Amino acid sequence: MSAPKESHEGLSSLQIIFLVIAGFLLLVAFGAGFSKSTPTDGDASADERIAPVAAVEVTAVAANAGKRSGEELYNAACASCHASGAMGAPKTHDKAAWASRLGGNLKALVASGIKGKGAMPPKGGAADATEEELTRAVAFMMK
Ligand code: HEC
Repeated sequence: MSAPKESHEGLSSLQIIFLVIAGFLLLVAFGAGFSKSTPTDGDASADERIAPVAAVEVTAVAANAGKRSGEELYNAACASCHASGAMGAPKTHDKAAWASRLGGNLKALVASGIKGKGAMPPKGGAADATEEELTRAVAFMMK
């Protein structure tokens, strides 16, 4: 009966380590909160206060995959062909060219773009793009 007891002890020391780490993180978080709320003047300290916000924004951009605007995805993945009309691609902002495709139906055009057509690979090569992003990008090109 010694084996189960040992594993139980192992678990509780893990839990203690976890609690110590959690407590430390809490202290750090509180420390940061207090130093931020301390009124300061001078440009250097302002930069210090902005730095954490900038770091959060960088994380937000990474987490933003799937939330690109139509224009952002278009510039990143569609412009290479659609800006010039390369290989017979309907040109960006050429309303007539887009209206003549699938009756200018946005949903049908997006579905076609997801499958790929002719010289265009599926999703225009933007494999990580969501249907919503592609819809925005097509709508942007049709404007
Ligand atoms: C490698 C070049 C290329 C890229 C990159 C590209 N396209 Fe295209 N696209 C084409 C070509 C060529 C056509 C015309 C295909 C045809 O009719 O045979 C086309 C047609 C389309 C159509 C109309 C499909 C239809 O059924 O008529 C849509 C919608 C579309 N593209 C969306 C996009 C989107 C959105 C992106 C960016 C995410 C993109 N394309 C990127 C080349 C490209």
